Amino acid sequence: MLNIGVIGYGFIGKVHVQHYISNENVGKVIIADPLEVNRKSAEKIGFKTYESFEDMLNSEKLDAVSICTPHYTHRDITLRVMDFKIPILLEKPVATSREEIRELIEKGERLNIKVMVAHSLRFSDTFRLAKRLIEDKEIGNVLFIIGKYLAFKDYNQYPKWKTTKKEAWGGTLFRDGIHIVDAIVWFSGKRITSVKGLPLNLLFDTEVEDTFLGTINFQDGSIAQLSMSSITKGFEQIGLEVYGTKGSIKVNNDELILYKEDDTPKYIKPAIGASDFWKNQIDHFVDCVINNKEPLVTLREAEKTMEAIFMLYESAEGL
Ligand SMILES: NC(=O)c1ccc[n+]([C@@H]2O[C@H](COP(=O)([O-])OP(=O)(O)OC[C@H]3O[C@@H](n4cnc5c(N)ncnc54)[C@H](O)[C@@H]3O)[C@@H](O)[C@H]2O)c1
Repeated sequence: MLNIGVIGYGFIGKVHVQHYISNENVGKVIIADPLEVNRKSAEKIGFKTYESFEDMLNSEKLDAVSICTPHYTHRDITLRVMDFKIPILLEKPVATSREEIRELIEKGERLNIKVMVAHSLRFSDTFRLAKRLIEDKEIGNVLFIIGKYLAFKDYNQYPKWKTTKKEAWGGTLFRDGIHIVDAIVWFSGKRITSVKGLPLNLLFDTEVEDTFLGTINFQDGSIAQLSMSSITKGFEQIGLEVYGTKGSIKVNNDELILYKEDDTPKYIKPAIGASDFWKNQIDHFVDCVINNKEPLVTLREAEKTMEAIFMLYESAEGL
């Protein structure tokens, strides 16, 4: 049975904890969070907590940890946890600069630490099927992808850190749209040749953007178009359309529709429905720890997605 430490007990830390405790291979879950109110809410339902993650690491015999803290803390906390030589499930975005990511990769590989990154859509059943269909050339060669992360997020109700440049680094693209950029990079597998990005503040007067539009050009001539926004009320759309030479795929976490031009064109709706990608992600991490497997999303894999993200922001500098 694994003893797990969860560092950061905010929105996603609670999700990690919930899925660890329902995993049959997990014994104790212990929580570290500097915020007293969050520790109290964890203690109320029976968890042992620490104010400092370092005290938790020094005092408990942990087999693995999840890092679920604000973006600006990821580098420092991850490097410190690596000193304890235990596997890490690190929330996205892994860090806030290319240099920080290189540091994490260098130390992780030098000390042979297993680090998995929580690019959660890779654990969605429908997204995994889409990846397989694209790899199997069911839609021929990919020409054009449209990726959307449109979900209203009230920045006025957010924890302060999510709206500041220093602590969040970026807004809707860095925090949410990254899931879609990750899926695009994963589905395409091609080298990025150029990008164009347009960060906007359409509704919230914050240091980080509430909307991000962009394009990503790939080496084989294919292109992806991005629409990310936190101001879109009423119609939440988190998914992709992938148009190929022989068909198309429309995918979100609820369903996948494949359009194929065989002898007779047809729409196919595989019998696959919504999956709990957060649960699948935790179960995969536990499996990797117990059976010493390579995680599906390593730091090197996440680095490719982060490169696209940094290129998108850089392309907009000086606009
Ligand atoms: N994979 C996903 O689908 C998904 C979804 C939501 C958030 N996230 C990511 O998870 C991370 C956290 O986001 P959130 O929405 O849970 O934020 P949050 O503000 O709700 O929670 C962050 C928690 O970290 C704690 N914290 C801050 N510094 C700490 C430290 N040094 N040690 C321990 N705890 C510390 C805070 O007190 C807070 O409780 C971010 O990287 C975010 O992008 C991922």
